[in-house]
Amino acid sequence: MKHRWAGNCALGAAVCGVVLALLSAGSVGVQNVRAATAVPPEGVAAERAKEDAILKPKFEAVCGSCHDSGQATNGGRRTVTGWRETIEQMVAFGAPVSPEDKALVQKYLVRHYGLVNVNTAPANELAEALEISATDADAMVKFRTANGPFSDFTELSKVPGIDATTLKLAEDSIIFK
Ligand code: HEC
Repeated sequence: MKHRWAGNCALGAAVCGVVLALLSAGSVGVQNVRAATAVPPEGVAAERAKEDAILKPKFEAVCGSCHDSGQATNGGRRTVTGWRETIEQMVAFGAPVSPEDKALVQKYLVRHYGLVNVNTAPANELAEALEISATDADAMVKFRTANGPFSDFTELSKVPGIDATTLKLAEDSIIFK
């Protein structure tokens, strides 16, 4: 937090320092109260929430400049390829998106409006859609090749090495067909 008058404080530097210290102590106190009352997400969920604080406004700015950003997601979930193609189509319509922003918007859309058939998707698609490592995605493909199609989430979480907590975050994107 930056106070407008902090730069040209008319009092002695020491006094200013004390005033600023008190002000920041005050705001830290407020944050602590908030943290104590809300249940903070942990681990991967917390990391994702932090990322989302950047991804969401980016998506809203890029995909909300011609139509409402809600129109981008009203049609429902799409696969990683589906979203990539949609973004390219919007670029063809004139959406001014840098390559970095394209990647951020893609990540946001896949994370919150993604769709993946875990019985047919290739490993690279599984990795992107479920936000898991290439190693875990390969293990998934190996497992279904050896044991037949996955029938539900519980079965999917049995793939050796898979972190069920990370997988759970993408559960709504998963279909078994
Ligand atoms: C340059 C203007 C522009 C921007 C920026 C833009 N769109 Fe669009 N979008 C359009 C137009 C025009 C249509 C209507 C085209 C149609 O439905 O035939 C549309 C329609 C859509 C649709 C419905 C049609 C479909 O493909 O199902 C989706 C979804 C969509 N936009 C997603 C996005 C996303 C995601 C972004 C951000 C990457 C975005 N749009 C940014 C111009 C834009």
